[in-house]
Amino acid sequence: MQIPNEFKCTPVIYAVSGEYQIFVPVSKPTVMWVEIDGKAYYDDSNGILRSDVAVHKMHVPCEVLDRAKKYTVCYRVIIERKPYYSEATDVLRYESEFRPVSGDKIRLYQIADAHNRVEEPIACAQKSGDGLDLLILNGDIPNHSGDVKYFDAIHEIAAGITRGEIPVVFSRGNHDMRGVAAEKLEYYTPTDCGRSYFTFRLGRLWGIVLDAAEDKPDSHIAYGNMNCCHDFRLRETEFIRDVIRRADTEYLADGVEWRIVISHNPFAHTPPEPFNIEVELFGEWAELLRKNVKPHLMLSGHVHDCYVTRRGEVCDDKGIPCPVVVGSRVTEEEYICTRVEISEEKADIFFTDPEGEIHSRDCVIFSEEHYDT
Ligand SMILES: [Fe+2]
Repeated sequence: MQIPNEFKCTPVIYAVSGEYQIFVPVSKPTVMWVEIDGKAYYDDSNGILRSDVAVHKMHVPCEVLDRAKKYTVCYRVIIERKPYYSEATDVLRYESEFRPVSGDKIRLYQIADAHNRVEEPIACAQKSGDGLDLLILNGDIPNHSGDVKYFDAIHEIAAGITRGEIPVVFSRGNHDMRGVAAEKLEYYTPTDCGRSYFTFRLGRLWGIVLDAAEDKPDSHIAYGNMNCCHDFRLRETEFIRDVIRRADTEYLADGVEWRIVISHNPFAHTPPEPFNIEVELFGEWAELLRKNVKPHLMLSGHVHDCYVTRRGEVCDDKGIPCPVVVGSRVTEEEYICTRVEISEEKADIFFTDPEGEIHSRDCVIFSEEHYDT
């Protein structure tokens, strides 16, 4: 279906906790809702349809869209919004199919560190092989948050790859925290009630998105006293502990086959100064995950290189929670990201470029052996 003029791109279906958050960036004031199986899910503020927004957001329970496998975005373009007798167009509609994650194999693509690139990340995913089931946007998609307009790249990449027909998981990167609009990111991207860390469930896949926040101490001169990341991370430690307390409804829930960790920063690695922060706290995160959640795979970016870290290897400084795939090589000449194909016993990993060329590949065999420390 033709993308309406008022939409900047197709809708994007982000997975957060037990719901899909359907985002639609718009170029004109509109009011909007999504219809699924005859029920409307509105973008509203306590009963008032929102129109003064650049991005609409509708919350839909996962099971509703997974069952229906299609949705209709309904909207009116505002002519003039007034205290009385507001004027708007008739209801306009955009229909889309949706394919939930299901089956015994998951083909996902991770984009990280796009740093404002849009076409190359889209090409990387599109040319990486057969159809995808899931997209992961793992941080630093814009170069910084100096203006809300930079957030468009996030939804443009997601829409270009998924066309609103498969789910997307979004995770914040450290560059996303820089600039006057950084504090508004939560209104433009999917969060769990404003929190940038959350869990999600897609078919047999359970995941936890962790946000390591900035990569230098809060006191670093570059931040100009604008950050309180240490306190933020302490709250996140409590969140991880709470997830473990609720294991039966999270990673031990019926039907969960695979458990993954999404974190822009591969926090179990300790880089040199000034990036060698939170050794104890990140070590605690890694240990909590390794001893309780026992993830199959962790996906990261940030380092601008592509490799897999296994237990005891050179980047395993704090006791990695599981094998870690670091997957975004970014140079002036290259942009390479990561396709992962998860099946019963293993994950095949392909580091691919915008031409579809595989630069290197690896395979992680899922094994209990990793967690016996
Ligand atoms: Fe980064």
